[in-house]
Amino acid sequence: MAKSINFVFLILALLAFAPLCLCHVNTFGGYLYPQFYDRSCPQAQQIVNSVVSKAVAREARMAASLVRLHFHDCFVKGCDASILLDSASGIISEKGSKPNKNSIRGLEVIDEIKSELEKQCPHTVSCADIMALAARDSTVLAGGPSWVVPLGRRDSKGASLSGSNNNIPAPNNTFQTILTKFKLQGLDIVDLVALSGSHTIGNARCVSFRQRLYNQSGNSKPDPTLDQSYAATLRTRCPKFGGDQNLSFLDLVSPTKFDNSYFKNLLSFKGLLSSDQILVTKNQVSFELVKKYAESNEVFFEQFAKSMVKMGNISPLTGFKGEIRSNCRKINA
Ligand code: HEM
Repeated sequence: MAKSINFVFLILALLAFAPLCLCHVNTFGGYLYPQFYDRSCPQAQQIVNSVVSKAVAREARMAASLVRLHFHDCFVKGCDASILLDSASGIISEKGSKPNKNSIRGLEVIDEIKSELEKQCPHTVSCADIMALAARDSTVLAGGPSWVVPLGRRDSKGASLSGSNNNIPAPNNTFQTILTKFKLQGLDIVDLVALSGSHTIGNARCVSFRQRLYNQSGNSKPDPTLDQSYAATLRTRCPKFGGDQNLSFLDLVSPTKFDNSYFKNLLSFKGLLSSDQILVTKNQVSFELVKKYAESNEVFFEQFAKSMVKMGNISPLTGFKGEIRSNCRKINA
């Protein structure tokens, strides 16, 4: 009798502590946590940081490209490195989607990090976690905020070209469409405005904003919400025909510095993309948020860090789901 009471007690105790255990032991899935590699690969974060630092020192824009890579990964089936897979049997690469083609960059930097990690801790650190860490380190290197990155994501065994085409907002989408695309990922209007603040660094191609310069609403006139002298400057680098790949800075004031000048630009109608400018012109709540971040770098940085962690938590594969790829470009044999 006493034995069976003990047994019941033991079961109850296990049940009571089970959620606690799951937080720390990720074997059964669910949670990401910053110490995930502390035992299995204590040098993981240092390796990522050293490769990213070298890459950004070679080319400042790389910081922007690595932040964007994580975003384009997370919005398609969650942060699972699906964006990195090349086409193969049964896989159509996301790299060919409208938002990614001729546009995503930084893939070789991720390869370099992965090969270094495979040397030091084989089959341990996921490509999805590498991208989350690289996005954080890039932000810091460009002068932005830091945050602690929850880890333990695993890599997908498939990609979704349609997900990439449909889920990632386009620069000519309406405000409502963009907000809906964020909400479908569990992100809200605060995240939308703060994360758009990553357009404080990096470039965009002429094709991504040409419409605004020449024919915004089918009347052969430029977008009236674009500062007209800024528009004239942009037209010199982005002709009506040709020059599709010509680049312009997303933040004309401090293109490689992560700061709140992006929001200040929006208030003077110098946002490069239509999707940037509409944060000021189409919705009162987002307009108030833009003003708040334009006023205070600190407030922007704090929210940006929070929203990046939230984005990084979109549907991760954990536990026994997915795999740890040994080459980020293909699933394991
Ligand atoms: C709100 C909806 C968004 C739209 C419509 C959008 C659209 C774009 C477009 C069209 C470009 C230029 C691509 C090219 O011409 O090659 C771009 C660049 C960029 N985007 Fe976004 N984006 C959005 C949100 C975000 C978010 C949430 C992040 C990061 C968290 C981000 C980070 C970046 C960065 C850093 C660049 C520059 C990349 C580089 O220079 O390589 N964007 N975005």
